Amino acid sequence: MTAVQIGLDAVHVQLGAQSALTDVSFRIVSGERVALVGANGSGKSTALRTLHGLVPVEQGLVLQAPGVRQAMLFQRPHLLRMSALNNVALGLWLDRERGLKWSAAKVLGLQALQRVGLQSVAQQNGRQLSGGQQQRLALARAWARQPDVLLLDEPTASLDPHAKREVEALMTEWACSQERPMTLVWASHNLGQVKRLATRVIYLEFGRVLADLPVSDFFNPVLLVELSPAAHAFVQGELS
Ligand SMILES: Nc1ncnc2c1ncn2[C@@H]1O[C@H](COP(=O)(O)OP(=O)(O)OP(=O)(O)O)[C@@H](O)[C@H]1O
Ligand SMILES: [Mg+2]
Repeated sequence: MTAVQIGLDAVHVQLGAQSALTDVSFRIVSGERVALVGANGSGKSTALRTLHGLVPVEQGLVLQAPGVRQAMLFQRPHLLRMSALNNVALGLWLDRERGLKWSAAKVLGLQALQRVGLQSVAQQNGRQLSGGQQQRLALARAWARQPDVLLLDEPTASLDPHAKREVEALMTEWACSQERPMTLVWASHNLGQVKRLATRVIYLEFGRVLADLPVSDFFNPVLLVELSPAAHAFVQGELS
């Protein structure tokens, strides 16, 4: 059996008066591409943030195999008021485990920018890039840290169709890399994208997991209506 890389075990999360996650359990193994779907407020961002250790859990456990490196891309990238290159290099330089010198961090930073096609704007202020460029810059910053697991909160929500395809291509390439496949867990409102990229889909409603299926089962309406009427109703609603 393949070892669990990350996951949640019977997790309850309370945010103010709101129960944001209720008894949520899932285990993810290396190389999976897991899409979290559900309506606004269903708990997708909370699940990602909890996996990343940013949210205290009331009950349950956040699972992470020893030595697993994670990075997270937030719904709105938090870029610093400095050059695109320095935005990436600073993240690397601050990573104590790697203990890189600033010059080495800049070299790797530039490689990461090349990776996402942003080398030509390396010296421009990160905050002054277009929305799509900022998203790719944030992706470069996360990728540069060479995580085993990349968590992404609606990575293409603000992008035009061309930029969206570019980010999807990067996600696929990283996930399918021969030498270093990255596990992807991402929240998405785009079911077409989920169908294209995911191997597995987790459907959340009011902070509960109501379906957790291989992608082919999730998009098989006859099966889905049997397995999870709520998820089926969601998919039908999204497609109509
Ligand atoms: N900081 C907070 N304080 C109180 N409640 C919060 C906070 N953040 C989120 N919530 C609540 O937790 C629930 C889950 O929110 P979450 O952001 O995880 O949903 P989501 O599925 O990511 O939604 P969206 O599709 O809009 O991004 C919602 O009811 C939301 O109102
Ligand atoms: Mg969200």
